[in-house]
Amino acid sequence: MDRMKEAEKSRRVHDMFGAIADRYDFLNHFLSANIDRRWRRACLREIEKRTAVSRPRILDVGCGTADLSLLFSRWGPVTGCDFCRPMLRIGAGKIAGGMRHEPVSLLEADALALPFSANSFDIVVSAFVMRNLADIERGLGEMRRVLRHGGAVGILDFGMPRIPFLAALYRFYFLRVLPRWGKMISGVDGPYGYLPRSVQAFPPVEELKQTVERAGFVNVEYKKLTGGIAILLVGNAGQG
Ligand SMILES: C[S@@+](CC[C@H](N)C(=O)[O-])C[C@H]1O[C@@H](n2cnc3c(N)ncnc32)[C@H](O)[C@@H]1O
Repeated sequence: MDRMKEAEKSRRVHDMFGAIADRYDFLNHFLSANIDRRWRRACLREIEKRTAVSRPRILDVGCGTADLSLLFSRWGPVTGCDFCRPMLRIGAGKIAGGMRHEPVSLLEADALALPFSANSFDIVVSAFVMRNLADIERGLGEMRRVLRHGGAVGILDFGMPRIPFLAALYRFYFLRVLPRWGKMISGVDGPYGYLPRSVQAFPPVEELKQTVERAGFVNVEYKKLTGGIAILLVGNAGQG
């Protein structure tokens, strides 16, 4: 993607989340029947298996309204970054509401140019962000750069189930029901039509695993969650 198209995609994604920020949490939990919470917990469990540090420094890339940051704050101090200020504002409200354990600090930043020096974190996680990035390789490269050698990475996103009956049911929900309900509840046309399109355009998890490995991660494994509706990739930062 050339720089102009990248900038255009980033701007569209930024504006879209800005427009639905106030209703994002409700929509997320409602449209996924709360299963999204289970997926984030699965991410925490898998990352725990790969981390020996007792109080790790954690980065949540594209933290949005900070759900994953708050979950990981049970374990260590979290920095959440996102380029959409309205999403961060909602997250800041939840943090101020006392839902955290360890400190959580939020920062406005682009996942494609993270404002942290190399080796700053023991864990980098990111939920439902990758498919929105204008340049996935650059985003992964940035995650690798700020992670210390051996540190753990966890990436959660949507997938497309392949079990025939579930796939048909899911496609119907995803392509027909979700865009309409999303528009009805958020009052905004676009984002919930964009969601299925972006998931369909996203590489299959096997291919994504190779992209993650090329970015410098080792021991990369993936899990399909809820029959493949979500995917979780975990790995460790390789040498250099
Ligand atoms: C679907 S939301 C996920 C939010 C959160 N991680 C969660 O689990 O609910 C995607 C988030 O990624 C952010 N995002 C997308 N592209 C980004 C980029 N290039 N830099 C920083 N944040 C980005 C959006 O602003 C949005 O808050």
